[in-house]
Amino acid sequence: MNTINAVAAGSAGSSPPYVVWVLGALTVVALVLSVVSPWLRRRSPDVWWALCGYPATVVRVLWTWRRLADLQGLSVPKRPATALLGNVVVQGRALKPVKPRMGLPRWQRGGLVVRVRLHPGQTPEPYAAAGEAMAHAWRVFAVRGVSDSRGSVLLEANAWDPLSVASVPFRGSVGLLAAVVGLWEDGARWLIDLRRVPHWLIVGATRSGKSTVLAALVSQWARQRVALVGIDLKGGMELSLFGPRLTALATNRTEAAELLGRLVEITIGRMALCRSAGVRSVWELPDVQQPVPVIVLVDEVAELYLTATSADKAEVAQVATALLRLGQLGAALGIHLVVAGQRVGSDLGPGVTALRAQLAGRICFRVEDKGTAEMALGDLDREALDAVQEISVDLPGVAVAYGARGGGWMRARSHLVTPQQAQETAQRFAHLAPAFGQLYAGGGA
Ligand SMILES: Nc1ncnc2c1ncn2[C@@H]1O[C@H](COP(=O)(O)OP(=O)(O)O)[C@@H](O)[C@H]1O
Ligand SMILES: [Mg+2]
Repeated sequence: MNTINAVAAGSAGSSPPYVVWVLGALTVVALVLSVVSPWLRRRSPDVWWALCGYPATVVRVLWTWRRLADLQGLSVPKRPATALLGNVVVQGRALKPVKPRMGLPRWQRGGLVVRVRLHPGQTPEPYAAAGEAMAHAWRVFAVRGVSDSRGSVLLEANAWDPLSVASVPFRGSVGLLAAVVGLWEDGARWLIDLRRVPHWLIVGATRSGKSTVLAALVSQWARQRVALVGIDLKGGMELSLFGPRLTALATNRTEAAELLGRLVEITIGRMALCRSAGVRSVWELPDVQQPVPVIVLVDEVAELYLTATSADKAEVAQVATALLRLGQLGAALGIHLVVAGQRVGSDLGPGVTALRAQLAGRICFRVEDKGTAEMALGDLDREALDAVQEISVDLPGVAVAYGARGGGWMRARSHLVTPQQAQETAQRFAHLAPAFGQLYAGGGA
């Protein structure tokens, strides 16, 4: 009896119960994590998110959901807010609104996703509109409401700006005339496909990332059976990097006028070919007759339209007309325009406005003023314009671009293709550059 008592007393006195050990260990882990958290976040954001950021954010999401839903008008009252008092209808505030049902927040790289069940009568829009409030409450960079199935909405939270990290060039292949040039904000590949949107306008201030996205495009198209033609009136400083892979390069306006004139001839030749074959685009021709697609790259487009003397005027008019014709006719004939510039305002002349209307695909990097962003993106979508205004100087290569998942606009960042990489790629695929003569109808066969 005595022995048993002694053993029981001994064990209670020398080792604390199991729960205390666990609590103690958890406190130590939490303390260590809270001390190393800022350092870990800087050093390795992914590890930080897995160990500290995600668990803390899950707690915040669950903790704040009721208040957030109430304040953002996502909760729905159980009973109508009107009642009958005698024979008078009284309008009041409904008691105890019911918050939308939320699943468990799931981890994903650099963020989390959580599914929310819509109340009958609700649409996903108010959830998308409440994104800003959720981002503040959960202390994350952004929250987006995505409606991927009926009756529910998926809330996607990003812990930090996914575009803040420069990404490496894509080396795979995605089909003729398509190119992966970077990443969309939601992590998907940013694909530019000339078969879907034939002509593109790229606008941005100096050092905002225009030439880099051109390099990313060329690095991909260089590997395909296409002709690349350059017009670079800043002395060919940018496009001459791709020299070996270019079929032609114009570095002053006289050369540009001549080159564009020949391209218009080619376009007219292809039109005749399609007419005689009874088809409406070169893609409907039999394979052997299909001409080589031509991509005309123009860097610093404003230079083409600047006039000093009256002799310039005639040349500018010639260039403007030729570019416009390529824009109007080229899409179905395998002639594509990718035009980059700092400004595309009507101050450069009426030719620019008409050309802009032909370039349906738009990419707008950081710009100096709102007017330029409006010219680049059109003034339809206020949100896209606001997003352009918020692009920081510290993030070159970030743009608001057309053609995101489901159409519409989204922020994206181009891959960082260095001039050396661009040069190497051009050299490697120089043998794929068709001769100019091959571009005429029948020449590519
Ligand atoms: N996607 C990107 N990621 C990281 N850095 C970039 C990116 N795009 C551009 N940069 C940086 O910005 C600089 C200017 O880019 P550039 O394409 O030459 O601008 P622009 O042609 O608009 O003047 C480049 O030297 C490069 O270091
Ligand atoms: Mg440039």
